[in-house]
Amino acid sequence: MDRPWWQTAVVYQIYPRSFRDGDGDGVGDLAGITEKLGYLADLGVGAVWLSPFYPSPQADFGYDVSDYRGVDPQYGTLDDFDRLAARAHDLGLKLIVDFVPNHSSDQHPWFVESRQSRDNPKRDWYVWRDPKPDGSPPNNWLSHFGGPAWTLDEATGQSYLHSFLKEQPDLNWRNPAVVDEMMDTLRFWMARGVDGFRIDVAHAILKDPELRDNPLAEDAGGFHKPMGAYDTLVHVHDKAHPDVHEAFARFRQTVDGFDAQERVTIGEIHEYDDLGRWASYYGTPTEAGGLSGLHMPFNFGLLNTPWTAAGVRAHVDAIEAVLPDGAWPNYVLGNHDERRLATRLGPESVCLAGMLLLTLRGAPTLYYGDELGMEEVDVPLDRRVDPWGFRSGVPELGRDGCRTPMAWDASPGAGFSEGAGPSDYWLPLHPDHESVNVAAEAADPDSVLSFYRRALAVRNASPALQAGSYRPLDDVPEGVFGFERAEGDDRRLVLLHFGDDDVEVAVPEAYRGAPVALATHDREVEPVGEVFCLGPWAGAVVGPGLTAGR
Ligand code: NOJ
Repeated sequence: MDRPWWQTAVVYQIYPRSFRDGDGDGVGDLAGITEKLGYLADLGVGAVWLSPFYPSPQADFGYDVSDYRGVDPQYGTLDDFDRLAARAHDLGLKLIVDFVPNHSSDQHPWFVESRQSRDNPKRDWYVWRDPKPDGSPPNNWLSHFGGPAWTLDEATGQSYLHSFLKEQPDLNWRNPAVVDEMMDTLRFWMARGVDGFRIDVAHAILKDPELRDNPLAEDAGGFHKPMGAYDTLVHVHDKAHPDVHEAFARFRQTVDGFDAQERVTIGEIHEYDDLGRWASYYGTPTEAGGLSGLHMPFNFGLLNTPWTAAGVRAHVDAIEAVLPDGAWPNYVLGNHDERRLATRLGPESVCLAGMLLLTLRGAPTLYYGDELGMEEVDVPLDRRVDPWGFRSGVPELGRDGCRTPMAWDASPGAGFSEGAGPSDYWLPLHPDHESVNVAAEAADPDSVLSFYRRALAVRNASPALQAGSYRPLDDVPEGVFGFERAEGDDRRLVLLHFGDDDVEVAVPEAYRGAPVALATHDREVEPVGEVFCLGPWAGAVVGPGLTAGR
């Protein structure tokens, strides 16, 4: 199995505000994360992705960056970052950082300069246009977070573009000086030991150069979660201009060309209606035999797929069919923008979901707390902070409920902070934190956490699960998604049951008598016979037990 680390490693996403508060102010920080890296190494993940920790006014909790090369004092210092990177590497973990190229904060010195005058040297680092003669915005584009994507700057009489909040002006990726600066920023972090970048709203960095109006949507629904007014337009001109691929070829050259180490670029790509367009972000074949684009465009498809055996299989098969030669798939079931997995899919599906994610062909990304089965928190109105909820006019779009603090133990503050009490935490704890926490679940072999530990150990010991081929089984009853993974002599059969009933699966001959390496609901399962019975929302990985130590 000769594969780059990013194909086989399980990525674990940390939302820095919520992982562990090392300085007692009720907000998580880098020192807190460093303290807990041992937990992640023991869990068996291979890489950590940190959501933004850069200096920021926090209008969008760090996705509004005011200095791309620093650490917000709330989270620590560059020295804290270096300590975190060193500790991660000592533990054998790779470190991926968020990179936010589409927009900066309006407090970034570049934008402060840019808005000073029409002829300021930084004017063209952002997208400025005259309003229409009647004073309305330059075009009909809308902000994701509600309202027009343009704000008029009274002093200079022009409007600037912001795909998100007005505090997040879009950078002009058609200006070579912006591109050069951003590439240097990637080098800055690589020199500090960063192993990869998660690129925020990657599909949006290049827009139609003529800034044409978007057409009106006939059907506001579609294959994604409703986004409010934003869905009234078809977003053909405000994102995904074909020139975006040149920009990612440049990212790729910068990252691959830095030194001899393997690094990864993972783009946040929201392309649900056209998987071919999603796959185009892998780029085209290069002379060196690779692909020119992102190592992986994030695949959010499972978040939008009906939670049925047929729905999930159809999605996986569609992804397999659309991948360019040499491209490596990936799957996501939760992140800081989505409702918690346990709530979205139902608590009964938590282990099934974990088994799916950790056995599919491709790189899985886990979201902090999902390994405990943490549920979405119904954050009281007076403690909600996410601007998407407030400004879009659709409170349900608020993302606070999936960003609440991690629970480490059963103490009143859940071990998140030593200094602050839970009422001073930036967001409230989940109500069942006394039982849903790391210490309690680690001590219970039947907990969700113990299941995840076993699942990661089984995956990490099996070349087939980490890197092998994928072959779906046709001869399974309705409600079951079954597939085989194989790499050389190593083979695993994965059976996943989506349903409330019991179901019997005829075991393919090659697996009869084989042990069950992992089951969602039991720790000890007899070797399989001719027929294997799966209970409600149950899954099993069949094949030799652990073939190698981690
Ligand atoms: C996508 C990020 O995941 C989300 O949290 C953020 O609000 C927007 N991009 C804007 O940066």
